[in-house]
Order: sequence, then C-alpha cells, then structure tokens
Amino acid sequence: TIDLRGRDFLDLADFTPEELRGLLRLAAVLKEKQKAGERVQPLMGKTLGMIFEKSSTRTRVSFEVGMVQLGGHALFLSSRDTQLGRGEPIPDTARVLSRYVDGIMIRTFSHESVRELAEYATVPVINGLTDLHHPCQVLADAMTILEHKGRLEGVTVAYVGDGNNMANSWLVGAPLFGMNLRVATPPGYECDSGVVDRAKELAARAGTEISLVHDPREAVAGADVIYTDVWASMGQEAEREERLRAFAGFGVTVALAAQAAPDYLFMHCLPAHRGEEVAAEVIDGPHSVIFDEAENRLHAQKAILVATMAGRLA
Ligand code: CP
Ligand code: NVA
Repeated sequence: TIDLRGRDFLDLADFTPEELRGLLRLAAVLKEKQKAGERVQPLMGKTLGMIFEKSSTRTRVSFEVGMVQLGGHALFLSSRDTQLGRGEPIPDTARVLSRYVDGIMIRTFSHESVRELAEYATVPVINGLTDLHHPCQVLADAMTILEHKGRLEGVTVAYVGDGNNMANSWLVGAPLFGMNLRVATPPGYECDSGVVDRAKELAARAGTEISLVHDPREAVAGADVIYTDVWASMGQEAEREERLRAFAGFGVTVALAAQAAPDYLFMHCLPAHRGEEVAAEVIDGPHSVIFDEAENRLHAQKAILVATMAGRLA
C-alpha cells in the first residue's frame, strides 16, 4: 500500500519512483474493483474542493466521479463565481477552504499560484493542470502504457509538438517511470529550462535517456509511443495563427508514424485537433489508445485521492 497522507500532488518530481509505482499499483487495484462492481469507499464523508480557472471535460468529470465512487463528494468551484475571481488572496482562500474540505484540486495558469495555495492549505492540494505541469495526465498515461506494453522500463516515448505543460510533465515523469524520452519541438517552443535541468538529473539517476531535438523524425524513429498535444494551449488562443505556422511539419501524420516501432501506441491527452497536431487516420487508427488514457484519468486520480486523503484502502 502507498500512504501519502497529507502530501500534495503538484509535480511528479516531488515523488520517488517507488511512490509513483505504488500509485500505479493502487490505481490498478481500484480499476479492477470498480470493474467488478466492488465498492471501495475510504473517503466516506470527505469532500474535495475543485477550483477551475480554465475549461475542462476529463479533469472535472473524472475527479468528481472518482470522489463519488470513493464514498466522498466533490465541489466544482469556478474561479469566476468565487471570490478568487474578484481578487481574494490565495493564502486566505487556502486557509478558508482548508476549514471546510479535506482536499483541494486546482486547475489554473500559474504554477506558482498552486505552490502558494499548497503552502497555505492544511489539506492536500492536487494539481489539475497549470501552464507548467499536468502530472495527473502523465500518471494516467504511464498506467495506460503499462497496460498495453506490460512494462515501463526501457519504453521509448517520442513527444512531438509544443514544449508545454504536457511535455514538461513527461520530461520528469519518463525517468521516474524508467522510460526514455525524446522531445521534438520547433525552435522557440522548447520545454521549460528549469524542468529540463531537473529531468536530466532524474534521468542520470535512473539510467534512462532524454533527448531534445527539432526534428520530429529523429524523435519518432523506432519509438514505442508517439505522444502529442495541441499547439495552442489554454490561455494561448491569441497566438493560434502564429503557432499554426511555427508548427508546420510537426503534425503526426501517417508518414511520420510509420517511422515508429511497428507496434507503437499513439497517445494524446485530449482535446485534439485532427488535421493539426495529428492526422485523423492516426488518432482514429488501430494504434491509438486515447480513450484508454482518458478512462485511466479516473483510476489514476482515485489512487492519488486515496493515498493523499485516506492513506489506505478502508
Ligand atoms: N486531458 C485533460 O486534462 O482534459 P480536460 O482539459 O478535458 O480536463
Ligand atoms: N496543453 C493543453 C493540455 C490540455 C489538457 C493545455 O494546457 O491547454
């Protein structure tokens, strides 16, 4: 069992490989029990406050459903309709919410704001996406790769596209899970340099490889997984046209995917833009596991909720 009682879940790099493996094992147990119709409710009577400053389909629904399945309850708190949106300070919000709820999930722009929230909150804080990181997604992705490939060690993931929150979380996540990672971005759209430095340390410790290139074919050659994400993330809508031009040649086409291992998996956190970062034939083709990934958000996050809010299965 994996007991992370009281811990925040902000960045995969805050956890050891053993802790992350523990979360994957717990997620698999919770998934199996859910599929078998067995009720597991260690969060009976507990409440998760979910602050959203950006849109969401998967994160909102999977956290809310996950809390209900675990016997608890979730509150959707749009920053627009709370005092946060009118400028109430984060430290005050953190201390007030901590008097009511047993855990806080937040999706927002600034990663620093989430760190500040976690610093002042006395309950666990879970990062449901910031401009810098999307750790819940990579945990669910690792679970999905493990299910399809039967292993994580030595698996090579090629991330093609924007050096955004997904790419950053993959950078630290890959070495922690024992995977190799190749990231191909256009010049000017590379990953966060602080995250790159941290990822290189983690890879050196794990004995895994990380390469950062500007040629999608170099990244994809022989890879076990091709991963991509949108070219304009939430908050970058105004840059869309400019980005469409900058990312020309970085779409995952049938020809590019043909360079990967014959049994490659195609993955995407969703939502996707067919014909932009990925061709319809690839994302809707036989190698695509996008809906398994989406489903595993539920199971992986239930593991995070149980581990941080209950510490064990009741
Ligand atoms: N992948 C993901 O986080 O999706 P949502 O934006 O719908 O939550
Ligand atoms: N990079 C995307 C991921 C959405 C789940 C964004 O931040 O909008």
